[in-house]
Amino acid sequence: MVTTDADRELYERAVAIAKRAYAPYSSFHVGAAVRARDGRIFEGVNVENAAYPLGVCAEKSALTTAVTEGYKPGDLEAIAITASPCGGCRQWLVELKLDRVIYANNSGEVVAATPAELLPDTFAL
Ligand code: THU
Repeated sequence: MVTTDADRELYERAVAIAKRAYAPYSSFHVGAAVRARDGRIFEGVNVENAAYPLGVCAEKSALTTAVTEGYKPGDLEAIAITASPCGGCRQWLVELKLDRVIYANNSGEVVAATPAELLPDTFAL
């Protein structure tokens, strides 16, 4: 999937917010920015914890904020992430029915994909 100007703008928001990450254990700062269909933007960062598994990924932070503000599955168009989304976050992207995921892949390129491309044959209840 080709990236658009809007994708790159959203990705820049993710890059800018990454500086607020709380990542004293990994020093790996991640930012995420979600664009809703009505144009609102929600940002998130990773928040780590001394009990390592309790840390939260940047994309989950951003998506949780959007849901708290009243947004439902299908209301969110795109998310940009400064890292390749982890497996658990891919399941979140499917659940909340985003159209596009813009992320920095492991070669450092900013690319766009659908949640289904990132997590095919997804588990569903
Ligand atoms: N991390 C994210 O925030 N999103 C991802 O999808 C990949 C991993 C964070 C979690 C942890 O704080 C740090 O990156 C190192 O794994």
